[in-house]
Amino acid sequence: MTSPDLPAHISASLAARLHGVSRSDAAQRSDTISKTYRAGGGSTTIRTESDALAYALARMPATYAAVIASLNALQEIRPDFAPTSLLDCGAGPGTATWACAEAFETLESFALLDANPALRSLAIELARENDRTITYTLGDAPTKIIDAPSADLVIASYVINELADTAREKLVAAMWSKTNDTLVIVEPGTPAGYARILDARTQLIRAGAHVIAPCPHDETCPLLKPDWCHFSQRLQRSRVHKQLKSAELPYEDEKFIYLAVSRTPIAPRPSRVLAQPITTKIAITAKLCTTNGIIAAVAPKRDKALYSKFRKLDWGDAVFEHPSSE
Ligand SMILES: C[S@@+](CC[C@H](N)C(=O)[O-])C[C@H]1O[C@@H](n2cnc3c(N)ncnc32)[C@H](O)[C@@H]1O
Repeated sequence: MTSPDLPAHISASLAARLHGVSRSDAAQRSDTISKTYRAGGGSTTIRTESDALAYALARMPATYAAVIASLNALQEIRPDFAPTSLLDCGAGPGTATWACAEAFETLESFALLDANPALRSLAIELARENDRTITYTLGDAPTKIIDAPSADLVIASYVINELADTAREKLVAAMWSKTNDTLVIVEPGTPAGYARILDARTQLIRAGAHVIAPCPHDETCPLLKPDWCHFSQRLQRSRVHKQLKSAELPYEDEKFIYLAVSRTPIAPRPSRVLAQPITTKIAITAKLCTTNGIIAAVAPKRDKALYSKFRKLDWGDAVFEHPSSE
């Protein structure tokens, strides 16, 4: 399992850029960027070097953690997957590229694509400082991706939420056409993020893709509204991170949703824990998505072996053995 915390060398490169920069100015910028994101405005307010740095300091640790959690889930199911090429669409400061490089030592080539010049410049500097060779194309992803190389692993992290419906569909189709093996899409863990992932999932299955994670099947999602599928990844906050977010806690929990699809079907496909299991005096109950739909799997305390297995279960875990159900 790869650590969800941003590698120390990347954090150090980012922190070094803060020398001589007013913390309150950086905090103000990151606050404006966060507010714009929450209002659905996307990355449009990131225009300058200082904006790009503020974004990276405030958000890169959390999106990195969400990407690592998604890649860990993928690797648990495909431990033999050894991609050599990566295409990172809507790469921003290179967050997913760094996450993929940490998770897959086999990666040799890194192609990045994004429309934001300030984030691209920051990514190029981070790569230069940290001895990573990348090619980074500037432009509109749904259009420019046509010229991108195909790759064993294609990824889009926190990107498709910034696109209008037609552009999103176009990008998802184009990303799949550039995928030699596996495509991963990561989105914020909100009902809207879940809805976008479901749309992409339907589109990709129609195009011949096989779901690897988080779903144990390629059928219609069995969750009923207002329920929605999402996961949570805890990450440590650095001192700078806390300062910029005016936060007290030494950690934060990033809610996210992801989809990993492949050209090759996987069997057997594990069930997925959809919420933190609930422990009472007499049993542990885990909400599972299985090949037979959603079940509440129960491990009574008196069943010592099953109970001890359930004690280790966390939200988001894959469950390979079929447990008992209510
Ligand atoms: C929230 S940021 C995520 C950046 C990075 N993937 C990460 O996880 O930190 C969204 C990124 O999508 C990019 N983006 C949005 N619309 C785009 C488009 N039409 N073409 C290319 N990039 C786009 C933005 O410039 C920004 O870098």
